[in-house]
Parts: sequence; structure tokens; C-alpha cells
Amino acid sequence: MKGIILAGGAGSRLYPLTLVASKQLQPVYDKPMVYYPLTTLIEGGIKEICLISTPHDLPRFKQLLGDGSRFGITLEYREQAKPEGIAQAFLIAEKFIGQDPVTLILGDNIFYGGDSFQRAFGEFKTGATIFGYHVNDPERYGVVEFDTQGKAVSIEEKPQSPKSNYAVPGLYIFDNEVLNVVKNLKPSARGELEITAVNVEYLRRGTLRVHRLPRGFAWLDAGTSSSLHEASAYVQTIEKRAGVKIGCPEEAAFRQGIVSLAQLEAIVGQIPNCEYRTYLDQEVIAEAKRLQN
Ligand code: TTP
Repeated sequence: MKGIILAGGAGSRLYPLTLVASKQLQPVYDKPMVYYPLTTLIEGGIKEICLISTPHDLPRFKQLLGDGSRFGITLEYREQAKPEGIAQAFLIAEKFIGQDPVTLILGDNIFYGGDSFQRAFGEFKTGATIFGYHVNDPERYGVVEFDTQGKAVSIEEKPQSPKSNYAVPGLYIFDNEVLNVVKNLKPSARGELEITAVNVEYLRRGTLRVHRLPRGFAWLDAGTSSSLHEASAYVQTIEKRAGVKIGCPEEAAFRQGIVSLAQLEAIVGQIPNCEYRTYLDQEVIAEAKRLQN
């Protein structure tokens, strides 16, 4: 399974924050936003990742994340010249995807809790798997309607009258057929290759699965000033209460076994003295050593 993080877009709703740094580089409490989707992919066992952003912002992402070796993964970068739609990511990353299935995650989506994604990655064989999450304001998203048996029957992009409260979060798993599906798509009225159109095509073919995410699972998108602030407050609340970090890719890589304890110690040795380092030193490394003895 390959992974794509889509971290371009205009970020116009966050102006003037996004004048110099893109949305996905903004802080969500104690780390850059892109750390959260990156961690979600690593926790799911995805080790080959391609990050797509604008020509303007790509150098900053490279500066932040490098070649991925710090997180036990390989990281490639591709440019999206213009924000011509989420589904365009598959065309941009076609060579990177090769013959493999692929998970696309949006760079401003934050997920926390449970193992729904890990299980979905593990079970995935063909077709497409997307998710449904109960929200208050479904009209802002792709909305999925279920029949009485819980089977998805329709998906609509930003409908005025949503048929359910289930929005489709920004994590999508597709087989390699997605490349053909996107190549046959026409841009929508707003000039974009729509991810909802891809999902609708899989639904039409009868190969779309929609898993409802359980209550207690958190999905936050950080695209407006309010939701950015709420996401920061949420992360701070959980981290302070539980003493664990959300969105820590070094920790995720270690727990996945793709970075050894010795490698983690070397990586943490490069981090300046700060709360992030103290966490990795005291909560992750020291705990692992205690368990070894
Ligand atoms: P949006 O939040 O819908 O768009 P945006 O980031 O351009 O923000 P705004 O509406 O405030 O101008 O995009 C969702 C995510 O997908 C976000 O992480 C940006 C990313 N994206 C791209 O990288 N390229 C695209 O062509 C589109 C449409 C979105």
C-alpha cells in the first residue's frame, strides 16, 4: 500500500496565516498540522509516502520532513501546479503509485482514537474503502446516505439538503483502478477533479465499502480559524490529560517496529531540548527500556 498526503490548496479561509506558510504547516497545538496525517499513515503501516503540495510550499515541507528516514519511511515529493482538485493527486503521483493500491489522506485532516484505519488497511483487497463520520454540519462535505441495511446508496458533494449526517472524511483507500477512474473524470462545475466523483464511480461499480467510524473516534479538519483553534484545544486537552502525544511520527514509527530503539535514541539525540524531546526521551524511550528489563 502506497500513501499520498495531499497538502496543497489555497488555504484562503486561513488568510492571512497562509500568506507565507501553507495551511498544513500551521501549528496544531504543539506540532505542524502535517504531522497528524503523516502519523496516521505510519500507524497504518504505510512506509512509502508521497507528499503533494504547491510549488511555493514544497521546499518548506522538504525542510520539515526530509527523506522520511527519521520516521523509518521513504518520502517523495510532487508539485501540484494549481489546486485542480483532490482527485488530481492520483495523476500527479501516478509513477509513485505504480501497480499498488493507494491511500490518500488530506493534509489538514486530524484523526484520533481506535484502530479503524489499521483494520481497514489490513482487510483491503480491491475496490475502494472510505469512511462515514457523524457530523453536525454535513453540507460542508461529501455526504453518504445509507439504506436500512447500512449499505451506502448515494454520495453527494456539499449538498444543500444532506440525506444524512454522515460526512466522508479525508482518508480514502483505493485499488490501482483509481488511476483509470480519474483519467476518465471530467472537471466539475468548479473546475476540479472531485474525489466525490471517484467515490461515486466505485459506488456505481458496486466496489465501494463505507465503514462508519465509531462514536468516540475524533475527526477534526483544521481548515478555518475556528476549527484550527478547536483542533489545537482538543490536542492539548488529550495530551495534558493522558500524558501521551497525538501525531508524533517518531513514536508511531518506533511502535510500528520500523525504527529500532537504538535508531530512535539517535534521532531524539538530534532534537533540541524541548517538551517534544522530553516526551520521546521519558515516555517512549525510557518506557521501552523499562519493558526490556
Ligand atoms: P480545501 O480545504 O477544500 O481547500 P483549500 O485548502 O484550498 O482551502 P480554502 O478553501 O480555505 O481555500 O481542501 C482540502 C484539502 O485538500 C486541503 O488539505 C488542501 C487539499 N487540496 C489540495 O492539495 N489540492 C487541491 O486541488 C484541493 C482542492 C485541495
